[in-house]
Amino acid sequence: MVDFHSHFLPGIDDGSDSVETSLAMLRESYRQGVDVMFATPHFYADEDDPESFLYNRNNAWALLQEAMAEDGGAFPEVYLGAEIYFFPGMSVAEELAELSMGPTPFMIIEPPMMPWRESILDEIEQTGENLRRIPVVAHLDRYMRMLDDYTLFDRLRNRRMLIQVNASFFTHDDTAELALRYLREKRIQFIGSDCHNMDERAPNMGMAADVIRYDGADAYLEELNDRLCSLLRRV
Ligand SMILES: [Fe+2]
Repeated sequence: MVDFHSHFLPGIDDGSDSVETSLAMLRESYRQGVDVMFATPHFYADEDDPESFLYNRNNAWALLQEAMAEDGGAFPEVYLGAEIYFFPGMSVAEELAELSMGPTPFMIIEPPMMPWRESILDEIEQTGENLRRIPVVAHLDRYMRMLDDYTLFDRLRNRRMLIQVNASFFTHDDTAELALRYLREKRIQFIGSDCHNMDERAPNMGMAADVIRYDGADAYLEELNDRLCSLLRRV
């Protein structure tokens, strides 16, 4: 199973605060059945520039790789990416293309937690076009819940962008049914844990997979994983 969104790199954002926590997150993810995991540290253009972000990300990854080798345990295969916070003008920031998801053409964009103007969606679409990438809107279910706006999935329907949801969309009692329906309707392209630590935002892909399997929707989950894995193998 692929975890497309997580914050397990040590000391780079509000995710893992140490190499030990990172190892625990990776170990736990693997135990839950995650074999491919994308690290998506937050990128804020008003605080950082892509070059120093990549430098810090590579350092954090090097530190973790060393600890993984020393540990000798079984871990998911790791790819590096970013969760890019939306900003006006991002569509002309060519250097953002470097923050894509591993070798794939996807780029995770995190819109602001406020009602979305059409101009925000226009700019995300334009970013994909200008940077020759495929924008993926981060955890759409989270906006839906926190903004109490159930039209968001519909608003993205004819937009040139894909949708990532968090595993918790499937595990929350009040949204599980909707999550399963959208999965069956193929309106979800990626699932991620968005895990930040081993406490209140711990790895939870396994629980989501259990809900999906219990509902008999395994084939849809496998389809998402297979499509992404075959892309990773090709590039
Ligand atoms: Fe995140």
